[in-house]
Parts: sequence; C-alpha cells; structure tokens
Amino acid sequence: MLTGRRIVLGVTGGIAAYRAAELVRWYVKAGAEVQVVMTDAARQFVTPLTFQTLSGNPVHYELFNLIQERDIGHIALADRAELLVVAPATANLVGKVAGGLADDLLTTTILATRAPVLLAPAMNSNMWANPLYQQNQARLAAAGFHFVDPVVGLLACGWEGQGKMAEPATIFEESVRLLSPQDLAGETLLITAGPTREELDPVRFLSNYSSGKMGYAIARAARRRGARVLLVSGPTALEPPAGVEYCGVTSAEQMRQAVLERLAESSVIVKAAAVADYRPASRAGQKIKKGVGSRTTLELEQTPDILAELGGKKAQRLLVGFAAETEQVLEHARRKLEAKNLDLIVANDVSAADAGFEVDTNRVTLLYRGGRVEEWLLLDKLAVAHRLLDRIRALRRGEPLPEPGCAGQ
Ligand code: CTP
Repeated sequence: MLTGRRIVLGVTGGIAAYRAAELVRWYVKAGAEVQVVMTDAARQFVTPLTFQTLSGNPVHYELFNLIQERDIGHIALADRAELLVVAPATANLVGKVAGGLADDLLTTTILATRAPVLLAPAMNSNMWANPLYQQNQARLAAAGFHFVDPVVGLLACGWEGQGKMAEPATIFEESVRLLSPQDLAGETLLITAGPTREELDPVRFLSNYSSGKMGYAIARAARRRGARVLLVSGPTALEPPAGVEYCGVTSAEQMRQAVLERLAESSVIVKAAAVADYRPASRAGQKIKKGVGSRTTLELEQTPDILAELGGKKAQRLLVGFAAETEQVLEHARRKLEAKNLDLIVANDVSAADAGFEVDTNRVTLLYRGGRVEEWLLLDKLAVAHRLLDRIRALRRGEPLPEPGCAGQ
C-alpha cells in the first residue's frame, strides 16, 4: 500500500516516543522506506538502535554528522521525503516550528521540506490547553501543516485529560491519506456495513454471519482518497477506520433511520450491510422460557427494505447495492439491480470459502444498469474496495469505464 514511499519520521522527547516504534512497524509493513530523525530529548526515552532495527535504516540525530553528511547530507532528508511525520510532537517542537526555528536536525528538516508535514502532538493537558500552545498549532495549521490531535487519557504526569498521543493506527491512517491521490474529494459516501440484529427477547436475536469487513474496507479506502465518509454499521468486531463519521446501529429499522437521516448529505450510497430480512413479529419483554413441547414456532415479519426505499428517492445520487447469494448469483443480482433501481450491484457467492462473509478476500461480479458485467478474480477486500471506488468515481464523472471482462490479475 505504501510500497517505496519515502517517509521521514521525527521523534521528539516525550514518553509517547516508545509508541513511535509501533508506527515505524506499520509503515515498514506497508512497504514504506522510513528514515527516523530523533531529537536529543527523544534519545533519553528510546535508543536509536530501536528505530534503526525497526526501520532498517541508520537513525539521524546530528545536524552535521560527518559520515551521514557524506552519504546523504542533512538537507537531502528533507528533499527526499514524500511525507514528514512527527510523532510524538512536543509543545517545544511545535513552538519552535511555529517560530520558524531550525536549531537541530529535525526542525531544519521540517523547515526545508516541501513534503506535507503531519504532527501528532503529545503533552500534559494543561500545556495542550495553554493559549500559547494553541496559537502555535493554529499558526502551523493555517500554514498547511497537518495535525492528528491528542486524545483524552491517563497522562504520564498522572493527570487525566487531553494530551495523550493519538493511536499509531490513527496516525498511520492519516499518513496514508496524505500520500494518496484525493480523487474522491468533494464526494460524500454513505456506506452501510455489517449485519443487523433483530431481537427476540432481552438475551436472544436473529442475525447473520456478516463481519462488516467489506463495508469497512470501502469506508477506509474512500476516506483515504479524500471522500467524506458516513459509516452506518451494525454490530461488528471491527474498529471504525480513523476519520470516518461513524454511527453504530443494531436493528434493520435503526439502520433505516440512520441512513434516511444522512441521505440528504450523501452523493453516493453503498449498501454493503447484510440486513436481516425478517424480525420477530413481537419482542418479548422477558426472557422466553423453554416450553414443554420439543418444538416451537416463531412468528416473523419482514424488515423494511432500506435499499429499495432509497431506490425510490435516488435523485442525482449513485446507488450501489450488494447481493449476497449462494446460487444463481447473476440472475438474482440482476433482479435486485432492477427491482431496487440501482446503478450498480456487487454480487458475490457467499457460500465460497474464500469470498463473502468473514474472510479477508472476495470474488465479485459487478452488474451495471444497462447490462454491463465485470467479473473480477479473487482479491483482497481493500483491493476490491479501491477498484469499486474507481468505478464509482468514473460513473459520477461520466467518464468511460475500463474494458469489461475478467479483471483482478
Ligand atoms: N438490503 C436492504 N434492506 C433489507 C435487505 C437488503 O437495504 N431489508 C440491501 C442490502 O444491504 C444489499 C441489497 O439490499 O445491498 C441486497 O441484499 P441481499 O440480502 O443480498 O438481498 P435481499 O434483497 O434481502 O433479497 P434475498 O434475501 O431474497 O436474497
């Protein structure tokens, strides 16, 4: 995902410096080339050897190191970087950069680079709230610097409050966004994901095996590409991707309400959720007791078909559905495309072991309004998401779609 991308990671002197090691792992795992620059204070917290081992590159910390100067020169770091991240960024570092200072290797690199700079501040909550600090951050934000704000948590000083460095996963996500083409900027994607649960009584429900992985992958990919993402999700074990506006729901009716509330804001709707088709006709207020007979009957009623309802309110929006099938995949999907007034439906055979629910891969066929069909080979769900977003983008802009046929090699 970041193969060959050149990231310079600045580490400053705060206790969160040890979490920067985790961030290096994320970048390296994604294929990036990471050069770490440490301040003197950072080296009090973590040794350069840690970062050298994780990044596979020598760690930089002297402004005029003779050997490193001969090899790359201190400005070369700034020139080569495609993204410069500082995590953690202390109040001191932010203050120095806001003042235009360049008195060590890191501040010099920041001042000299033309790459986007992402800062993940971490500090005591009073320092964070101090107007002098806030003015410095606002000044840098106005100059085009990017920030991942600290979160509320227990701080090293014993205080509880805002100042804890954001999770490495969040900083990583923002880094990927800054390195991605923002070709979906201006679009608002309303994405549904996961299963719904239809309650029978206080301890039981009807549901399905949907993990939410496909919908979350689309949300993550769209956010990385600059879209505003509204994710309405049934219960899943997944963390919502950083930067998406998340709304958790349980039942089909709650999902319907959440979707209708967000409809006016959206330009594209992707319904990847596996909505339960039926719910108990009534929900028992107390736990249903075992009866005397060996059989029992549940009375079920249909849930609202959210996508069909959206098909009637489509206006200029692009409407994309999913079809989870176990047989006659294309026939059933074609029928849903037409019945629900969709632009595109993504059909998959959920009975296959490597596609559909729970797994990380998917093998899908796209059916478009007008008869076009695209059959894709097995792909990672994030790759399916990006390809689908390529199609969505082309449809939104009225641009030609790639040649149909078998894709995914
Ligand atoms: N869908 C929906 N509301 C429902 C049922 C389905 O919005 N009550 C949406 C799903 O999110 C999906 C599409 O409709 O995008 C197709 O869902 P699927 O479960 O494959 O088909 P159904 O329409 O429910 O038909 P069937 O269960 O008979 O296959």
